[in-house]
Amino acid sequence: MYNIAIDGPAGAGKSTIAKLVAKKLGFIYVDTGSMYRTLALACIRAGVSAEEKDKVVDVCNSVQVSLEYVDGNQVVRLNGEDVSGYIRNEEVGNMTSAIAVYEPVREILVKMQQKIATEQDLVMDGRDIGSVVLPNANLKIYLTASVETRARRRYKELVEKGVECDINEIAKDIEDRDYRDMHREVSPLTQTEDAVLVDSSDMTIDEVVEKIISYVNK
Ligand code: DC
Repeated sequence: MYNIAIDGPAGAGKSTIAKLVAKKLGFIYVDTGSMYRTLALACIRAGVSAEEKDKVVDVCNSVQVSLEYVDGNQVVRLNGEDVSGYIRNEEVGNMTSAIAVYEPVREILVKMQQKIATEQDLVMDGRDIGSVVLPNANLKIYLTASVETRARRRYKELVEKGVECDINEIAKDIEDRDYRDMHREVSPLTQTEDAVLVDSSDMTIDEVVEKIISYVNK
């Protein structure tokens, strides 16, 4: 199997890039963030709060997360229900970062991710893919962009959606989240020694995709 691991901070464009690279190569794209988000949704639905570690772990152990591919797009299921439409909001996002620090929660998903990687050629993105999930990946990419660039991209997205926002506040949120992701005790975001650094600040999406494909062909 050929496995590509893409890690990096929030807003660096990992999912956009990973999806396009997978499509070009005919691989599947595994979005691990959506798996963590699905367990967070299960906790919210069960009425458990993030601080109740034992209950969170119980809920996560009692539900089933599964992935499916429809027209090349990942669909994530919670006990068989397609929950793709319920996991991309602030409430779920906050719950996700809170429960993703629990080792037993990560273990459940890491095992699943490792199994998928033995069965299929894939591009997998997240925070701990090159470091923990797929330490032997054929190619590891650490995709980043400056805080200013990521803030500008996020600001544009929100403005296009008609959401009022302040670009300085967005930049501050990004900095805070980077700090939390990089300094948490369990599986912090780091660039492994064998990962190729790609800084997308001054690159177009196509340029980043081509760059990664060029590493595959090397
Ligand atoms: O990439 P995302 O925004 O969908 O990730 C949601 C949250 O899950 C984020 O707080 C980081 C966490 N996460 C993680 O801890 N490990 C991963 N492999 C993927 C995501």
